[in-house]
Amino acid sequence: MVGIGLLGLGTVGTGVVEILEERQEELKFLIGEEIKIKKILVKNIDKKREIQLEENIITSDYNEILNCEDISIIVELTGDLDQGYKYIKDALNSGKDVVTANKAVVSKHFEELSSLAAEKDLAFLYEASVGGGIPILKRLKGELILNKITEVQGILNGTCNYILSSMFNKGLDYNEALKIAQDMGYAEADPTADVEGYDTLRKLRILGTLALQGKIDESDILLEGISKITPFDIEQIKSIDFIIKLIGEVKELEDGFIAVVQPTIMKESSYFANVDMAFNSIVFLGNNVGELKFSGLGAGKLPTANAVLADIVDIVEDTYRKGNPLGERKLNNLNEKLKAEY
Ligand code: NDP
Ligand code: HSE
Repeated sequence: MVGIGLLGLGTVGTGVVEILEERQEELKFLIGEEIKIKKILVKNIDKKREIQLEENIITSDYNEILNCEDISIIVELTGDLDQGYKYIKDALNSGKDVVTANKAVVSKHFEELSSLAAEKDLAFLYEASVGGGIPILKRLKGELILNKITEVQGILNGTCNYILSSMFNKGLDYNEALKIAQDMGYAEADPTADVEGYDTLRKLRILGTLALQGKIDESDILLEGISKITPFDIEQIKSIDFIIKLIGEVKELEDGFIAVVQPTIMKESSYFANVDMAFNSIVFLGNNVGELKFSGLGAGKLPTANAVLADIVDIVEDTYRKGNPLGERKLNNLNEKLKAEY
């Protein structure tokens, strides 16, 4: 039996509990192990939960989880930047493998946390932090062994894509569309991170650093979100058969890199134009493999929980890529040059 300590029982945490319950028998048969949630950490212990839970499984005391010998994997799904970082660091220092979907923490601390995990011969996996249900990081880490990757582009935020698609296709008003995205469980607890582009920026920072094998900081990325786009803008763009999407892009050039998150106008027939609603898509370019395109649901309870559980299964089966996946190249930021060209 593999014991899990689940931190957070919101949209994604609930999805993890549900899938585990539904697939318990298959999991036992296919991987030869029972995966069991032993404890769940929440913020508000008195909150009414939408699922049936074993008695005494919920706690608000993290030490109960850290000190539980039956728990070997910590699954961090709180969305809290400072506490989430602390939970993960304490878990690794206590000899427990870690899976997280917390892109805010991964983006800010993944060099440190990856090194700590590698040093302790533990797993630190964060597939769900980028692209929701799309298994993009595992694939990217795999392709990096044989390829030099020079370009990554993507629609990386389900909430923004849902809002823009709804405004464009259904004529919904911005606030109406945002409210639906929140009700569907796509948006962050504070949706400012989505609509102002920070969430896309964090995902691009993770993808870009992995892809180029050199550190791209959050502050290296030029940023503009979608909150200023008006129905009038949408009508104008529509009238010329174009569409608008929030695109994140990192590109390596001869003398450095550019990294930008911005609303981008494109022809209705172009590839990203057809990535609709809560779907995300990521395209990367490798020198041998050429262009690879991935798409799938980028947010939501079950797709995200599926990515979290895929990381857990990789740990149980010992099939994840070991060591520190991050390169040490020093890269020159060319964004200032790019700005000057505009
Ligand atoms: P929610 O806000 O729905 O749930 C957060 C959960 O964590 C709640 O159960 C909350 O407790 C608990 N929590 C929050 N802060 C703390 C804390 N400091 N200590 C202990 N528990 C805490 O978030 P989501 O499930 O939507 O997201 C979880 C993570 O997954 C986030 O990092 C998010 O960015 C990421 N993610 C989310 C996706 C989505 O589609 N929703 C997709 C991909 C990634 P309580 O219930 O008591 O309030
Ligand atoms: N808030 C995020 C989004 C969740 O809308 O894409 C998935 O990372």
